[in-house]
Parts: sequence; C-alpha cells; structure tokens
Amino acid sequence: MILGKKENIATLEDVLRSSWRTLHEGVRNARHPFHRPTLATMDGDKPQVRTVILRDFSESDRALICNCDARSPKVSQIQKNPNVSLLFYHPQKWMQLRLSGTASIHTDDKTAEARWEKVPLSNRINYCAEIPPGSPTEKPTSGLPGLFRHKAPKLIDHPEARKNFAAIVCRFHQMDWLLLKLTGHMRARFHWDDNRMTASWVIP
Ligand SMILES: Cc1cc2nc3c(=O)[nH]c(=O)nc-3n(C[C@H](O)[C@H](O)[C@H](O)COP(=O)(O)O)c2cc1C
Repeated sequence: MILGKKENIATLEDVLRSSWRTLHEGVRNARHPFHRPTLATMDGDKPQVRTVILRDFSESDRALICNCDARSPKVSQIQKNPNVSLLFYHPQKWMQLRLSGTASIHTDDKTAEARWEKVPLSNRINYCAEIPPGSPTEKPTSGLPGLFRHKAPKLIDHPEARKNFAAIVCRFHQMDWLLLKLTGHMRARFHWDDNRMTASWVIP
C-alpha cells in the first residue's frame, strides 16, 4: 500500500490547486469518489449525515451544489440552521477534505431553474414520490404512483416533479485538507473571511 503516491504537494497553493481540481473532477466524473460526498446538517442539537451527489462546484464562490426533494428533512433542517459540513474522501489518493459553511435552499429562483434544466428526464422520477421522503409506510415502497412504476421513467416528465425539486447551495468558508503519506501525513487548514483567505499547515 503506497499512501499519497499521486500527490506532489509542497506549498499551500499546491493544496488549493489540488483540492479545486479534485472537486471539479468529482462533479464531472460519476465514478470519482468526490462525486458522492457526505453532507452534514443539524437537526436541533443532533447532527445528521447522508450521502449526496455533487452536482456543481464554483471555486470563485466556494460553492457546492446538490439536488434533493424539497420535502426531505434535510431541507427543513437547513432552513432552521444553515450551518453545514461536507466530507470528501479519495481512497486512491488517501486525501480527505472537510468543508464547512452555510447552505441555502433554492426551489423557485434562477438557481433552481438552472439546476432543474440539467436533471435528465430519466432522473426526474426521483422527485415524484406521492408522500414526502422519510414518511413511514406499511410496506417497502418507492412512493411512486403506479403509473410510474409500470412505465419507462425516461418517457415521463411529470409537472409535480418540478414542484418537489430543490437545489442546495453550500458556501464554505473553512476547509480542512488531509493527505496520508508513508513519509509523513500532511494537513492544512484554510479560512475565508469574505474573500480574505488565511491558510496554515497544521499537525495531522
Ligand atoms: C450514492 C447515493 C447518492 C445519493 N444522492 C442523493 C442526492 O444527491 N440528494 C439527496 O437528496 N439524496 C441523496 N441520496 C439519499 C440520501 O443519502 C438520504 O438518504 C435522503 O436524501 C434522505 O435524507 P434526509 O432524510 O436527511 O433528508 C443518496 C444516497 C446514496 C446512497
């Protein structure tokens, strides 16, 4: 096992460049481990974590976007407390990123529209459950109406789906980067106050 073999990191700028590049790859490549981060929210005083798909990343805004059902519990959690963290791990590079910041929910604005346009028809069925995600049911069920269960999903563009769609934009102001290496682990922390960045190496 060779830890951190593919990363040649000497400076904090290298860390930033590598982090941004890896996040962009995570958006583009559905097989990339950064495509499926863990999103943490607060439910009152209890942390809640779940896997999401990384849909977009903007380094100028330090914003990460994922999609969800607007009725899902994570949406009301974010509306009550916008503090979130995202966790990424790349098992071949042995690289971990922890990003913290605040999230906003978009259901009815340009951001939501732009994201919805990018949802393939075949995926729109994900927003068609008749009752909200997390509702208890007597039997195991997707919650989809019978019509959808029996037809090829890609033939369906149901108007209800748009109503249930939300984009979550997570704007981070703290980044903790960790690279495991046989020659000594490396760790760096970045903080942004508006656009003023402070960065430091820290003990892993
Ligand atoms: C590989 C994978 C990808 C997922 N992607 C998403 C996603 O992009 N958006 C989403 O809302 N849920 C996604 N889920 C489901 C969530 O992990 C979670 O179960 C669901 O959203 C309910 O979360 P909540 O009750 O905290 O709102 C994904 C699950 C897996 C296993």
